[in-house]
Order: sequence, then structure tokens, then C-alpha cells
Amino acid sequence: MKKTASFTPVIGVTVIILFAGVIVLCDVDARQQVDPQSTVMTKCTACHTTRRICDNLGEKDREEWIRTVSEMVSKGADVAEQDIPVVAEYLANLEPGSEPVCR
Ligand code: HEC
Repeated sequence: MKKTASFTPVIGVTVIILFAGVIVLCDVDARQQVDPQSTVMTKCTACHTTRRICDNLGEKDREEWIRTVSEMVSKGADVAEQDIPVVAEYLANLEPGSEPVCR
């Protein structure tokens, strides 16, 4: 009985440390953003080449890209809802003719 009593705080502290670690790890994970370039090069090539995307570089602003990407998602593009602005931002900032979208 005495042994159990002296071990309880040790177990309690260990559990707290483990929980804190899990919470920190989850938080870091949640803040991680997608890599918009690899998203475009993998997810946006499922139905057409990047040619269509290339043709629109420098033509659409962020808002227009959000509209286009959302439309592609509604057609079936595998891009998460929260990643749409990240991808749109990336495309809006690309110069016309940028690699690897254009090549
Ligand atoms: C599920 C199939 C599919 C996927 C995946 C897809 N698209 Fe499309 N996309 C289409 C189709 C079909 C058209 C032609 C019809 C149209 O113009 O609305 C098109 C046309 C386009 C056009 C030219 C028309 C316009 O509105 O400017 C752009 C730009 C474009 N896609 C960008 C993208 C981007 C960026 C992605 C990745 C987020 C993507 N597409 C993923 C199906 C897809």
C-alpha cells in the first residue's frame, strides 16, 4: 500500500507530460500548411494538364483563383476546403510562364 502511494505522483506526472506532448504535436500538425505547388502538380492534373492553369497565370487574381479552384473542387478535385485559399494565393502570385506549372 505504501509503495502504491509513493508511485501515484510519478505516474500522474508522467501522464501529464505525455498528454502535454500529444497536445503540442497535434497543434504543430494542425498549423502545417499544404505545399501548394505539389498540390497543383498532383491534384490539378487528374483531369487536365497544367496547360489550362498555365494559360491563366497573370490573368486571374486571388479571388478569381479561389472561384476557379472551388469550381474544380466541386467537379471533384481532391483539395481540402481549407487549402483552397493557399492554392489560390500561390497561383495568383505566379508570373506567366512559371515552372513547373508551365513547361
Ligand atoms: C475533376 C476533374 C478536374 C480536376 C481535378 C481539376 N479540374 Fe480544372 N477543369 C476541369 C474541367 C472539366 C475543365 C473545363 C470546364 C470549364 O472550363 O469549366 C477545367 C478547366 C480548368 C481551367 C480553365 C477554365 C477556367 O475557369 O479558367 C482552369 C484554370 C483549371 N481547370 C484549373 C484547375 C486547378 C487549379 C485545379 C486544381 C485545384 C484543377 N483545375 C483540377 C476539371 C478538373
